[in-house]
Amino acid sequence: MIDLGKLATPLLHRFDPETAHELAINSMALGLGGSAPKDVPALATRAFGLRFPNPIGLAAGFDKNARAVRPLAKLGFGHVEAGTVTPRPQSGNPQPRLFRLPEDGAIINRMGFNGCGIDRFCRNLARLHRPMPNGRTRGATVPLGANIGINKIGAEPLRDYPELVSRVSPYVDYVTMNLSSPNTPGLRDLQSAQMLTDLLSAINTRNPDRLPLLVKLAPDMDDSSYEPILEAAIAGGAQGLILTNTTIARPSSLTSPLAAETGGLSGRPLASRSREVLKVVSNLNKGRIALISCGGIETGEDVLDRIRMGADMVQIYTSFVLQGPALLSRLKTELLDAMRREGFETIADAHGTALSV
Ligand SMILES: Cc1cc2nc3c(=O)[nH]c(=O)nc-3n(C[C@H](O)[C@H](O)[C@H](O)COP(=O)(O)O)c2cc1C
Repeated sequence: MIDLGKLATPLLHRFDPETAHELAINSMALGLGGSAPKDVPALATRAFGLRFPNPIGLAAGFDKNARAVRPLAKLGFGHVEAGTVTPRPQSGNPQPRLFRLPEDGAIINRMGFNGCGIDRFCRNLARLHRPMPNGRTRGATVPLGANIGINKIGAEPLRDYPELVSRVSPYVDYVTMNLSSPNTPGLRDLQSAQMLTDLLSAINTRNPDRLPLLVKLAPDMDDSSYEPILEAAIAGGAQGLILTNTTIARPSSLTSPLAAETGGLSGRPLASRSREVLKVVSNLNKGRIALISCGGIETGEDVLDRIRMGADMVQIYTSFVLQGPALLSRLKTELLDAMRREGFETIADAHGTALSV
């Protein structure tokens, strides 16, 4: 079995970023990924009624078409979020549209929801559930989420989001409504309390017994904007928020010549704003719904810090791309060491302990 972590990441980085990404997904879809050992019980956690073997998930956008869900789960993620999937297939923005900024520990992307559309996405997910010769079914080994969004042309959010929730529901454990990618014109305007109320009500009407629904938000709003959105999410029955998507800001610390490329910035330069948004929302939320922190997480100490700040779990993308799958076992070792040092036996023990009371 090829250990992608040790062998493939430096090789992949010789290709342009998008070709490297395609190669990584293709080789994982062919079964060439690694296999992580079983997680220790101290890392297990629960959120929105599901059990997760560890609190580190793969953020949306890596496996947009749900082609490599099970191999990604086997690498050791605690959950995998596939998508963003849109109702119809679309090619996204012209290339180049994906830029690595290794000196800044960052990526800029303006992919624009390139993807195969909901029909193919569901066919890919259905294959996961096909019975095996021994009669057992083979769903993903960890909780699986579907991240849903809208097409650039012809979108009707009040029609499209409820339809997408219905379509993915037979195949996944939770659904994330993406209202925050910066590369689909108008998408972030859906992040208002009124719009969210209307969207959730349309989804609830169409899907009375729906799965846990999360809402993914941008880091680029004023701090005061998060409270009405949080309240609308809770009132509308959402069970969690993902904080945050990429930023359109460009911190002055960036040194890469690619820093001025248009698109969403992720990775290390996003960490402080992502953490700040988590703090603001955690203090308002007071544990009412689940919070997943995402943005610039690179170490096990970062994971524990976000959990102590009120996150139930975290997601990673950029550090995984830049460092490869070997990152996951390092994160878990560092997280367990940090928990031991701080005297936490379980993730639940650490949850919210750094929040002001
Ligand atoms: C190349 C790329 C594509 C992404 N595509 C999506 C997407 O389709 N949907 C989504 O919700 N987030 C998408 N994201 C955002 C990530 O899920 C994540 O929220 C963000 O990158 C911050 O986490 P990080 O700093 O660990 O990368 C994308 C990020 C990158 C770098």
